[in-house]
Amino acid sequence: MARILITSALPYINGIKHLGNLVGSQLPADLYARYMRGRGNEVLFLCATDEHGTPAELAAAKANKPVADYCAEMHEVQADIARRFGLSFDHFGRSSSPQNHRLTQHFAGVLAQRGLIREVQEKQVYSNADGRFLPDRYIEGTCPNCGYDRARGDQCENCTKQLDPTDLIDPRSAVSGSTDLEVRETKHLYLCQSALKDDLDAWIDSKTDWPVLTTSIAKKWLHDGDGLQDRGITRDLDWGIAVKKGDEDWPGMEGKVFYVWFDAPIEYIACAAEWAEATGNDWERWWRTDKGADEVRYVQFMGKDNVPFHTLSFPATLLGSGEPWKMVDHLKSFNYLNYDGGQFSTSQGRGVFMDQAIKILPADYWRWWLLSHVPESSDSEFTWENFQQSVNKDLADVLGNFVSRITKFCRSKFGETVPEGGAFGEQELALIEELTTRTRAYETHMANMDVRKSAQELRALWAAGNEYLQSAAPWSTFKADPQRAAVQVRLGLNLIRFYAVLSAPFIPDAAERMLQAVNTSDTDWPDDVASALNVLPAGHEFSVPDALFAKITDEQREDWETRFSGIRD
Ligand code: MF3
Ligand code: ZN
Repeated sequence: MARILITSALPYINGIKHLGNLVGSQLPADLYARYMRGRGNEVLFLCATDEHGTPAELAAAKANKPVADYCAEMHEVQADIARRFGLSFDHFGRSSSPQNHRLTQHFAGVLAQRGLIREVQEKQVYSNADGRFLPDRYIEGTCPNCGYDRARGDQCENCTKQLDPTDLIDPRSAVSGSTDLEVRETKHLYLCQSALKDDLDAWIDSKTDWPVLTTSIAKKWLHDGDGLQDRGITRDLDWGIAVKKGDEDWPGMEGKVFYVWFDAPIEYIACAAEWAEATGNDWERWWRTDKGADEVRYVQFMGKDNVPFHTLSFPATLLGSGEPWKMVDHLKSFNYLNYDGGQFSTSQGRGVFMDQAIKILPADYWRWWLLSHVPESSDSEFTWENFQQSVNKDLADVLGNFVSRITKFCRSKFGETVPEGGAFGEQELALIEELTTRTRAYETHMANMDVRKSAQELRALWAAGNEYLQSAAPWSTFKADPQRAAVQVRLGLNLIRFYAVLSAPFIPDAAERMLQAVNTSDTDWPDDVASALNVLPAGHEFSVPDALFAKITDEQREDWETRFSGIRD
């Protein structure tokens, strides 16, 4: 039994996530966590909301709420939707937790002690009316490039040109609209990542089993141009973690907070501390290599845009501390999922969002489609037609149909108990052989986090059972040889349990209903397929379940296509 720590990139607090976000981190992380638990490993699966920074402040302002209230509410909303999608976090924490405040300040303190933080004098726009420094995106004005009059200090939304606040014509505060702005001197902290460059390089080099996509991104940042740059880790915002050295004040840094990308990954650790506090567990054996975490395998899941922060910035924090923190062992990253010919977009409200998805269909439908089409080796695209096809074929025609046919047939000829009928024949043994090969392949793909290959193999496992049933045709056999039909049916009923166990990481609710139908809580992994297909003995009672999956009709598809073609307000 191994000890496996799994984290998914922390979703921003500023709104409900769309399916593109879900498929790029939380969902595949859940697949892996469920699989590893199913194989009997000790798993700690953590996620949290990423609550600081300008996006949180802006979203709260838009919702007309104090930012702390906004975050508390939005955390509950996200936690609830995660539950409804079956995301099996051991803890869903908050980067604004007291644990993360303490730990972030602790890291800043030790990094400073080790000479890895320097203070930099900078010029920044100050708003007299607002009584505060303004982050770049809090300054609006006219774009020097296209004349758009609501360009932001970091970028013009209209022509996409990257800007500096000082480029803007007639700049004003986005907070109050005031034009009473001036440039003032201010101090910020920089993490000396450049000093850690060789350590980081050596650490990346030791990761020989990482995908090239991951290591090449890291190497690019390490070596391109002038090499790895020091990074500003403080901001002039109200909302965030106050800049301190441990619990000591930091002279000259009053009123400033840490940059959201500094404190967010630290929440991976703090989240374990939150979990430990809530459940009476020990978090250090998961995170401190001097307290047992050297035996932990740590896997992170994220979209490709998050890779630099996880291969360089966060490791720089951990390595730089000189303390025995557990570092990531494997980092699984994903490309983007597109929506119907364009991009999913939170800011534009384009695509299908988690709350909308779960209103129209149960989680398993989405989980199956998203995981079997995960943007693994390249970007992939969601279309309603493709969604309808996969659901109807894979889930309804293959798996659902199998379960319903075999249970109904058995009920009609043998009643609602597993029939007797003797030993397996040649056809059954051939099926067992195929299932064995495929199960071993499925295990390999799952262990390697090859999500698409895993889905394909699972689908092939379902199809093999379906084909067996089709060609064994107990409904015909029954007339001439009811004993033989009984063997076939007994195998079929056992296959339901077998499929439930294998499929649970993908479609946990359906798997649960399958187990209920065959009236068992035996979820032992089929290390030996032949014996797994003898778990339910003759005489064991079962019941015919309601249809596992309903087909998506053309009317539904068209309706959804139109409903989700526009943008959400
Ligand atoms: N909130 C970020 C995003 O959605 C991810 C943060 S991951 C963490 O892109 F490591 F910083 F926590
Ligand atoms: Zn412009």
